[in-house]
Amino acid sequence: MGKKPVCLILGAGAGVGGNVGKKFAKEGYHTVLARRSDEEGLNKLVSDITEAGGSASGRLLNAIEDDAIENLIIDVEKNEGPIEVVLFNLGAQFGDRTLEETPLKLFEMGWRLTSLALFRLAKVIAPIMEARGGGKILVTSATSAMRGNAGQHAHAAAIGGRRLLCQSLNAELGVKGIHICHIYIDAAIEAPDTIGKLLGPEAYQKLLEERGNGKDMLVIPEKVADTYYHIAHQHRSAWSHEVDIRPYSEQPWWNN
Ligand SMILES: NC(=O)c1ccc[n+]([C@@H]2O[C@H](COP(=O)([O-])OP(=O)(O)OC[C@H]3O[C@@H](n4cnc5c(N)ncnc54)[C@H](OP(=O)(O)O)[C@@H]3O)[C@@H](O)[C@H]2O)c1
Repeated sequence: MGKKPVCLILGAGAGVGGNVGKKFAKEGYHTVLARRSDEEGLNKLVSDITEAGGSASGRLLNAIEDDAIENLIIDVEKNEGPIEVVLFNLGAQFGDRTLEETPLKLFEMGWRLTSLALFRLAKVIAPIMEARGGGKILVTSATSAMRGNAGQHAHAAAIGGRRLLCQSLNAELGVKGIHICHIYIDAAIEAPDTIGKLLGPEAYQKLLEERGNGKDMLVIPEKVADTYYHIAHQHRSAWSHEVDIRPYSEQPWWNN
């Protein structure tokens, strides 16, 4: 530890977060996986990586608590090493809710989990990366960052704002060598810890049977991880600032 570049994943479940962690570890990074509540799931991700010969450590934290993100970055820099790549993977998937079913607190929570949390992360990590001559901040996002829709008040407002925050960060930090990419996944993912829990076991199993299981009609996190790795290693003369991802079977949001 210490000699390897560090990839920090904020929001590491068994879907995109954990699989991006596995990919970076396979390619020689030390991966730090941070998630909120599932200690067993966290330990499994860490041991999957170490048993495969990679290097990883984990943190349990609630990102929206005061100083949680700030302390995480300081702690990782001190104990694991210089953070070269951060994946900001927190979403705010509350399911479809009418205006009446969207309390003020939930609307505010969406913003805290996505826009404000990314802003807090950038405030701490950007000066550190700038002093080292650069770094990469990848942000996972979703269709609701591109268009509002019925039932998506809290989600769309939160992540639509975050998309523009990514653009503002890029405008200021790109010339300082910090690459920010807003990666929006325009489809459902095989992600048991997020969509799996939102739908419940029966509906999630049905979704897997209908669109997973070799049909490749759900985004497969392991495959997406290759794209994230590529984006983090683009030459600075050819950076992507926004990337969309969807399976072959899906219409893009603008045709839907
Ligand atoms: N799943 C989909 O179908 C889908 C579709 C389009 C876009 N996306 C985007 O993909 C990203 C998530 O990827 P994923 O769905 O594959 O999930 P994932 O990487 O499997 O898991 C994300 C993890 O984030 C953690 N998390 C949530 N709130 C947190 C908090 N306050 N503090 C710390 N950790 C927290 C959760 O930890 P615990 O489990 O320990 O609570 C969860 O396991 C989001 O940005 C989402 O908008 C997802």
